[in-house]
Order: sequence, then structure tokens, then C-alpha cells
Amino acid sequence: MTAPWPRRPRLVAGNWKMNKTAAEGAALARELAGLTGGGAAAPGCGIAVCPPFTALESVGAALRGSAIHLGAQDLHPEPGGAFTGGIAGSMLAALGCRFVIVGHSERRHGMGEDDATVARKLRAALRDGLTPIVCVGETLAEREAGRTAEVVVRQTHAAYDGLEASPALATVIAYEPVWAIGTGRVATPEQAREAHRIVRATLDRVVGAGAGARLAVLYGGSVTPAGAPALFAEAEVDGALVGGASLEAASFWRIAAAAAGA
Ligand code: PGA
Repeated sequence: MTAPWPRRPRLVAGNWKMNKTAAEGAALARELAGLTGGGAAAPGCGIAVCPPFTALESVGAALRGSAIHLGAQDLHPEPGGAFTGGIAGSMLAALGCRFVIVGHSERRHGMGEDDATVARKLRAALRDGLTPIVCVGETLAEREAGRTAEVVVRQTHAAYDGLEASPALATVIAYEPVWAIGTGRVATPEQAREAHRIVRATLDRVVGAGAGARLAVLYGGSVTPAGAPALFAEAEVDGALVGGASLEAASFWRIAAAAAGA
């Protein structure tokens, strides 16, 4: 099994979503690996990229020897079998994936993924030696109705309920307000702080073992090189899950550098 991501390390992960062919992804990965100096020298934070399934192999090859980790965007909860179109965690691990995104809002809201499915995927990722990046976050309607805390508590609780402390501590959480994803409307550092504290308090209740203080909680939603330093200056923010700005090597690198310098 993969070693747990260390205690509250900084992590900047790029979620490429449904972008980049295998060849395009490899080209972007080569550019990023070049920015690390071609070797294992990374800035003072972990960096990961999560290409689409079809680019995992070529991107993994392009990243080999660099300090940049490979991640996937989703996995099937079952270990294998008759699940047309499904991709098992073991298949991702065999390609060299270290991380897998679980419960992204585009899957919760766009593809009907419920809390129970997210919980199963989280466990499947751990079973297969992957570090899940578990996404939680409220919609605009929920925020405007004053239900942010309720939603974030419910999603966090459902994902971790019944999980032993040791596997729970081998996960990463991303707070991604749905209204900030792909909209250019970034949460303020205060809004991120408040939500991250809710996530941590929920982890303390559900997991125990000081999980709230020990897990890395990333922020996601319209993170750009310009906006990143203010977010990373907030002590509650341990890094970022980056969509649009991760599709270009220079902007993604600037965000990682901001996280490393904060
Ligand atoms: P964005 O996406 O940075 O393009 O808003 C973030 C995400 O969906 O993880």
C-alpha cells in the first residue's frame, strides 16, 4: 500500500478534466518536468497532475524521473468485473498513479454521483494503494440559502463515516465551492478559511485521532497565479486543486511556486 501523504504537506494538483490527448498531455508533462530542472528538484510542495485516463500512460512516461506525481480523475468502486467503461483503482496504480480525485462536483452534480458512491470510491482508492483527493463543496444556491456548513459537514461525514483513523489519515481533502469552479469567481481567503475549519471539525468528530489538524485540505475553484498567493497565505489552506490554470505549464508552475513559498 502507498505510504500516507505526510502530515499536512502542501500539495498542488492539476485537474485536466476532459482536455489533452495522449500526445498533448505528454507534451505538457514534459514542459512541467523541465520546469523542475529535469530531476527530482521540486519546489517545497508536492505537485501532481491528473490527466484523462487515455493520457495517463504517456504523461506518466513523460514525468518519469521528475518529482511530479501522477493522478487520475476518477475510479470505479469495484475492483474489477463486468462494468463497461469502468476503470479500477488497481489499473491506475499499475500505471503509476499516486493520487485519484474522488467526488468531484462535476461528477456529483453532472453525473449523479451520491455521497454513498463517493464513500465507496474513497475506500476503493485506499484499497488499491492510491491517495484519494476527496472533493466537497456547496452549490451557489446552497450558499445563498445559508446551507454551506450543512452541506460540507454532510459530504465530509458521509465520505469518512466508519473509516478507521489510519486509512483516513492517508487521504487528502479538497474544498471546492461549486460556484467557484470554472467561473472565474474565486472564494475569498476568509470563505476558504471558514469552510476548511468546518471540514477539519467534522474530521475530528468522525475520524478522531486529530485528523482535522493532520489532513491536508486543499482549496479548488478558479485558482490562478494572481489569486493563489492570497489563498496560500491563509494557514487553513494547504494547497490547491487547479482546473483551467493547470492546462498551461507556466501558470500551473507559478501556482505551485506560490504554494511552496507561502
Ligand atoms: P477550475 O477547476 O480551477 O477551472 O475552477 C477546479 C476544479 O474543478 O478542480
